[in-house]
Amino acid sequence: MAKSSHLLPFHILLVLFLLRISLATTTNVTSENGLSFQLLYSDSVRDPSLYANLTTFQRLERIIQSSESYFQWLRRSSYNTTVIRPKIFAHMGIFMVALSIGTPPGTKHLTLALNTGDSLIWTQCIPCNPSFPQTTPMFDPSMSPSYHFLPINSPICQPPYQRQNDKCVYNIQYHDQTGVIGFISTETFTFHASPPSTIQSIPNLIFGCTHSSHMNFVGEPSGIFGMDRSRLSFISQVSRRTNGRFSYCFSPPSTVYAGLLRFGNDIVMPGPVQTTPIINVQNSYSYHLELTDISIDNQRLHLPARMFEVTEIDSGTAITHLIRPAYAIVKEVLVQYFNHFHLVPFPRPPFDLCYNLPPGMRRFFPNMTWHLRDADLAIHAEELFLVVEHNNEFCLGMVPDDHLTILGVLQQYNTRFSYDLQTNLLKFKREDCSHDM
Ligand SMILES: *[C@@H]1O[C@H](CO)[C@@H](O)[C@H](O)[C@H]1NC(C)=O
Ligand SMILES: *[C@@H]1O[C@H](CO)[C@@H](O)[C@H](O)[C@H]1NC(C)=O
Ligand SMILES: *[C@@H]1O[C@H](CO)[C@@H](O)[C@H](O)[C@H]1NC(C)=O
Ligand SMILES: *[C@@H]1O[C@H](CO)[C@@H](O)[C@H](O)[C@H]1NC(C)=O
Repeated sequence: MAKSSHLLPFHILLVLFLLRISLATTTNVTSENGLSFQLLYSDSVRDPSLYANLTTFQRLERIIQSSESYFQWLRRSSYNTTVIRPKIFAHMGIFMVALSIGTPPGTKHLTLALNTGDSLIWTQCIPCNPSFPQTTPMFDPSMSPSYHFLPINSPICQPPYQRQNDKCVYNIQYHDQTGVIGFISTETFTFHASPPSTIQSIPNLIFGCTHSSHMNFVGEPSGIFGMDRSRLSFISQVSRRTNGRFSYCFSPPSTVYAGLLRFGNDIVMPGPVQTTPIINVQNSYSYHLELTDISIDNQRLHLPARMFEVTEIDSGTAITHLIRPAYAIVKEVLVQYFNHFHLVPFPRPPFDLCYNLPPGMRRFFPNMTWHLRDADLAIHAEELFLVVEHNNEFCLGMVPDDHLTILGVLQQYNTRFSYDLQTNLLKFKREDCSHDM
């Protein structure tokens, strides 16, 4: 989301990195070598209305309500490291990380939208005006003894963050006229840990306490869990203990289970894996990839690689965005393909290419391969198309975009992605994500 200017010269980054190490020495990211959070589905950050009419997703709305029992459990057990294995919940579209923030009497349990395209971790804080509705109680920093403003002389308070009076202020503008304002702060965060029956606290994590939000969030997350490559993202802050590695395996929404966010040595990827470089792009800390061509049912489209100048993988975008010229060719091939079955395309916004679903058609759905540098990403038919059950329709889970290509969450289902910020490599491998527990 935030394609903003969180750009720092390398030497400042180095200083901040060293500073982060000294901060991190007081933390206890994990008792073993890894740390795992729970992931919850949420509405898409970028396309919140996307799933409005999809029963597959609607069905899951009920499931999140049962997460209340999970929160009650978490509330009782925040500081007990010997608790039972946590249940994991699936909701709609994108994923959220469940965590708790603060120390008694101010501890609050939150869900934050997991976003690899964002920098800062932030949550709404009392008082917040205006604010968007959140399902969990809002964090009140005045109730948590471990809450602190970032010291005003901290070298972290650099542009885009600003000193105002004696505080460090952020003003994040997202691309769609939304944004948040608040104070850069530090606080204790507590997470489910690996092994599954443990939790771990990380004191002095830098985050944003948002006191003014103009967001179109619709009531599930209270903020964002930034996981991009910039210095204040969660993965950067814990990079020493995790070697800058994190991984997720998104389970499709037809299953209740949503998966784990894993770090460091907690990431297990047996057997051969595909490996592609994470490309450095100026002024961006998102995860850029080099896409060179696309195949449909093993037939190369022979697209010019320059078509895909900017390609990223994002956990905060629900469906894949394809740069318009490439989308046009993909669409043409698919329209021809389904024409053989006498199917007539129609748009169903936000989707562009939809069809009525004849009985038995699903097994004829084609698949897709993204040819990345040094790696092929197979997008199976069940992840390429969305079946809108109550309408008996199906839609291509990709939409055209005028600016960039984004591999969205729907096309990431049932593949484990492992990000390594130290080697700048993305590894991935097909996996049944419902077994990620
Ligand atoms: C870190 O975790 C280990 C193992 O659970 C524990 O023995 C140790 O006291 C913890 N350290 C801190 C600073 O919490
Ligand atoms: C959902 O369905 C309603 C009524 O059938 C319709 O008015 C609305 O435009 C649809 N929304 C989307 C996003 O397709
Ligand atoms: C932690 O939870 C377990 C299981 O509920 C319980 O038996 C144990 O007494 C708790 N320990 C503490 C320190 O609360
Ligand atoms: C994709 O479809 C082609 C043609 O039907 C098939 O040969 C290939 O095995 C499929 N790939 C995957 C990953 O399902």
